[in-house]
This record gives sequence, C-alpha cells and structure tokens, in this order.
Amino acid sequence: MDWKVSQKNIAAFFLWLLILSTVFLVVSLLSPDPFSLITPQNNKKSESSPPQLSAQDELPPLQSPPLIPLSPMATVAPPILAPDQPPSPPLRPPLPLAIEEECDVHLGRWVKEPREPSYTNESCRTLPELKNCGKYGKEQEYLHWRWKPDGCDLPRFDPRLFLAIVRGKKLAFVGDSLARNHMESLLCLLSQAETPRNVYKDAGDQFRTWHFPHHNFTLMVMWTEFLVIGTEKTINGKGTSAFDVHLDRVNRAWADKIPFLDYIIVSIGNWFFRKNYMYEKGELIGCVNCNEGNLTDLGIGFAVRRVFRTALRFINGCQECGEGPITLVRTYSPAHFEHGHWFTGGYCNRTRPLDEKEVNLFAGTAWELRKIQLEEVVIAREEGKKRFGVLDVTKAMMLRVDGHPGSHWPAKKNVNDCLHWCLPGPIDMWSDLLLMTLRQD
Ligand SMILES: *[C@@H]1O[C@H](CO)[C@@H](O)[C@H](O)[C@H]1NC(C)=O
Ligand SMILES: *[C@@H]1O[C@H](CO)[C@@H](O)[C@H](O)[C@H]1NC(C)=O
Ligand SMILES: *[C@@H]1O[C@H](CO)[C@@H](O)[C@H](O)[C@H]1NC(C)=O
Repeated sequence: MDWKVSQKNIAAFFLWLLILSTVFLVVSLLSPDPFSLITPQNNKKSESSPPQLSAQDELPPLQSPPLIPLSPMATVAPPILAPDQPPSPPLRPPLPLAIEEECDVHLGRWVKEPREPSYTNESCRTLPELKNCGKYGKEQEYLHWRWKPDGCDLPRFDPRLFLAIVRGKKLAFVGDSLARNHMESLLCLLSQAETPRNVYKDAGDQFRTWHFPHHNFTLMVMWTEFLVIGTEKTINGKGTSAFDVHLDRVNRAWADKIPFLDYIIVSIGNWFFRKNYMYEKGELIGCVNCNEGNLTDLGIGFAVRRVFRTALRFINGCQECGEGPITLVRTYSPAHFEHGHWFTGGYCNRTRPLDEKEVNLFAGTAWELRKIQLEEVVIAREEGKKRFGVLDVTKAMMLRVDGHPGSHWPAKKNVNDCLHWCLPGPIDMWSDLLLMTLRQD
C-alpha cells in the first residue's frame, strides 16, 4: 500500500476520533444525569447467554423454614430514645419515593411477556423446593407477564450490572418469610452471573449469609416476624401462636448488625394478622385480633406503624453506622387465599393476574399498610440523617393472584400456600425495582 495514502487514512482516523470524543464529552456534560448514557436498553446483551454454573459448586440443602417458625428468644433491648440532636437535612439527597419523577413505578399493570424468565429451576441451583411450583405441576402461563409502569419501562434485571453496583458491599433482607422469598429470588437472578457460596447458616436457619467471591458481595437474610421483640405466648409450655409484641423495643438480633451493612431491605406485615398482644414500655396496652372484652383492639395499622417507627428510628440513631446504611422499605405483599385461610381450606387457583377493574385496590388492609409504610419512611427522613427509600410493590402484587404456589408445593394435604411466591415468578420484579433504585443512588 502507498505509504502516503495510509498516512492520510491514519490522520483522518484520528481526526474522526477527536470529533467523536468531543461530541461524547459535550453530550455527557450537558446531560443532567451523566449515567443516563448507560441506558436500560444496553442491559439486554447479557440476558441472552447466562454463563454456565460450575459443576463443583456445592448444592445447598433444599430447605426452608417451617411454615410458622418460632421466634428466636430475643434479649430485651432498652427502649428506643429519641435522637439527641435536632433533625437536620440529609447529607445526600434522599432516595426518590417514586423511582423516577415522571414515572411512578408503583402505578402500572401486568402485560403479556413472550420472553422466558431469566432463570429456571434448573439454572438456579439454590431454588427452594417449596417455591419450585413448576416441579409440582403448576401451569406455566403465570410466568409470561411483565410489570409495565404507566409512563415508563422497568428494565429487566441485569445480574452483572447489579453485581457491579454492589461490589464490596453488604446487603441484608430483614423480615419474615417474604423477606426470605425476596432473597431467594435475588439469589436465583444473581446466580446467572456468579455462583454464590453459602458461608453462614444458624441452627434454626433464620440467619443466612451468602457470598459472591468475584464481587466480594455479601447477601444476608435476617429473620424477624415483627422487627421488634415478639415472643410467643405459651400455656403449659406449649406455643399458642399468639405473640407478645413490644412495639417500642427493636429486635436486636437484626438491629445490632446494621453498622456492618451498606443496604437493608426491611419488610414485615403478615404476622400482625394473627392474635397478638401489644406492649409499650413493658405494659400491655391492647391487642390485635384478640376479641377480649377487657382489651382494646388497636388494629393492624396501629401496630405496623409503631414497629416501623421503632425500627427506622433505631436505624436513624445508629452512631457507629456513619452515613450508612441505606434502608429500603419493601411495602406490604398481600396473601390471596379464597374461601378460607391457611388451615381452613383456603386456595388460590386463578390462572391470570387480576385486572385493576376486578378488584377494589385502594380499600382494605393491604393498601392501608402500604400507606402507613410510606408515611413512616417520610417521617424517618425528616427525623434523621440516614437515607431511606421504598420498594413499592403492593399494587403490583395485589393483582398477582396467580403467582403463589397454591397447591403446587410439597406440603400436607389440603394446605395451600397463597402467601409466598413461586420461583421464578412475579416476585422477581422486586429485584428489578431494587436494581433501578440502587442505580439512582
Ligand atoms: C422444573 O420444572 C419443570 C416444569 O416447569 C419440571 O418438569 C421439572 O421436573 C423441574 N425440574 C427440577 C429439577 O425441579
Ligand atoms: C382479659 O380477659 C381474659 C378472659 O376473657 C383473661 O384471660 C385476661 O386475663 C384478661 N386480661 C386482663 C388484662 O385483665
Ligand atoms: C379452583 O378450585 C375450586 C375449588 O376446588 C374449583 O371449584 C374451581 O373450579 C377451580 N378453578 C380453576 C380455575 O381451576
């Protein structure tokens, strides 16, 4: 080749490179959010070919907590004191309550989705038997729906992007079996990019820790029915399934771990629907669902508000935590028993999501609990310096009557699970929201 021509080409090439990089720089600087250049569309590449899991990785035992696990004997913690310092504005901007200004992801609907889920019961080796609905004969139509927020799209979970964001961090799910269900879903989603190792499990399998060595990411689940101290009432040494709940005493089993965490996802709710006795300052102040003439029924909403106030205030008051952790409240996820409940023949065999018109979404306890949770997040932001956000899943999950194991699980005859969510399943959407929220941090 002629040397001069090729020299000219090289010069032209560098000129173009200069022009292109200048344009890129100008676009980046003018863009209000420099990271908006990394758009959700770019995530799609990694979805098509998840890496193979390596064969020598140990399979953890397929095990889930018993249906109604006993609470650990929590030590009595001192009552929560109001923070000494007057509230001052947060150091960093608050996480948005709605994820994008123009697009409130909690408003939306489920639309048909032709793509297969990101994982299967074969490709997720940690998928618990109790959530393996396909294996127990559940028809698979329920997998082909996607949450479509009004006014925007919720990008599909990208495990590589997630792991890149949480590199070197520690994230904990704090709550009951639905917090665990979310952790199990996230574990399945992430295991498509890196195989996690189970590095800790307590005797009752209430606390569990997973580690992703290539990203030094730690994922934990910490069991608590109420966030605060709750001990089961016993009669002659036998459990009654009613609890004494100390609304103003945070459960230190999880709360003492927060200085070591970067993110906490807090959720509870369903344990408040049984008969429970409520205490403040150690005194019995009433009950929920007790139907005893001499006790005031305080209502589920009252109890849920109080325990969120206690828990979020405790986090806000954490002196050893520095700026962290970032706390996300995952809003209430309802059960869908029809014609009964757990032990009274309730079932959930519908095969498609409800349409908004088919259900009075905004009446009833689920919506009330969600509202209380959002209000408590706002109060926590005003009271302290820590950062709080929400994963607002309530409306989306109210519509997913078809996403529970129902009779498709290895349980006793005639007991249907209409509370937890199948894996894969609609609960995987919670991690789509989680990733979207972490990206905005
Ligand atoms: C996975 O689910 C399918 C049905 O979707 C079922 O036929 C199969 O047995 C399940 N496999 C495992 C390993 O659980
Ligand atoms: C309330 O009444 C029940 C019986 O209905 C009794 O067992 C309980 O001790 C009473 N509680 C109080 C605080 O008086
Ligand atoms: C759901 O179960 C009930 C009670 O067993 C039955 O009557 C009904 O036909 C079932 N519906 C569907 C869609 O399978």
